[in-house]
Amino acid sequence: MLDPPTHPDGPDGGFPTGFFDRVDAGDDAAFYGPDRFVTHIDAGAIAAVGAVYRELGVGGRVLDLMSSWVSHLLDPPDELVVLGMNARELAANAAATSRVVRDLNADPALPFPDARFDAATCCVSVDYLVRPLDVFREVRRVLVPDGIFVCTFSNRCFPTKAIRGWLASDDEARCAIVSAYFERSGGWSEPHAALRTPPGARGDPLWAVWARRSGAAAP
Ligand SMILES: C[S@@+](CC[C@H](N)C(=O)[O-])C[C@H]1O[C@@H](n2cnc3c(N)ncnc32)[C@H](O)[C@@H]1O
Repeated sequence: MLDPPTHPDGPDGGFPTGFFDRVDAGDDAAFYGPDRFVTHIDAGAIAAVGAVYRELGVGGRVLDLMSSWVSHLLDPPDELVVLGMNARELAANAAATSRVVRDLNADPALPFPDARFDAATCCVSVDYLVRPLDVFREVRRVLVPDGIFVCTFSNRCFPTKAIRGWLASDDEARCAIVSAYFERSGGWSEPHAALRTPPGARGDPLWAVWARRSGAAAP
């Protein structure tokens, strides 16, 4: 059972106390140090990621956050900057045009100038962020006006590294969590959430939650 919500302006952004705790609060660099040249979702879910990116027009200069050796884009963008924890995995990402090793839980600041990207993505990883509102504010900063940020996720994760609030939630609540990240970080269009694999189908479900950088000033 999670504790009652904290104050909306407090450090946890209105999420319950303990929401962002993890079983393994140790250094992410140690956990992600070993190479994992695997796919974290099945072929149907991967296809759904590529399809939603294509449908939403993810292209131009793209930032793939919490990336690895695959970014799932069906259409090669003009530029693909991948940011993650494991340099060898990022080096093997054939679609990438540049690579950045960065621990967003240690420092959510993105090492890019304002309005550097047309689109940003985060695939099956948003559940590992312990300061998501800071990261979402940074993503907004580095996007052009109307630039899109697409988060996709399934029902699998590294449970020791996922936040407690995620583990305690069902699929619908997880969509609400990511939508709340957009709403509470500020300066985004109304977020959309959708199941992108056929309802009730066998295999990994794939959810997407996305919003566009709005013209409104971020808080
Ligand atoms: C489940 S994998 C997903 C990788 C890739 N996005 C994909 O679709 O296959 C989780 C990824 O999140 C990245 N990650 C986890 N914690 C991170 C952190 N604190 N800062 C930056 N990236 C992180 C790891 O490098 C890892 O590649």
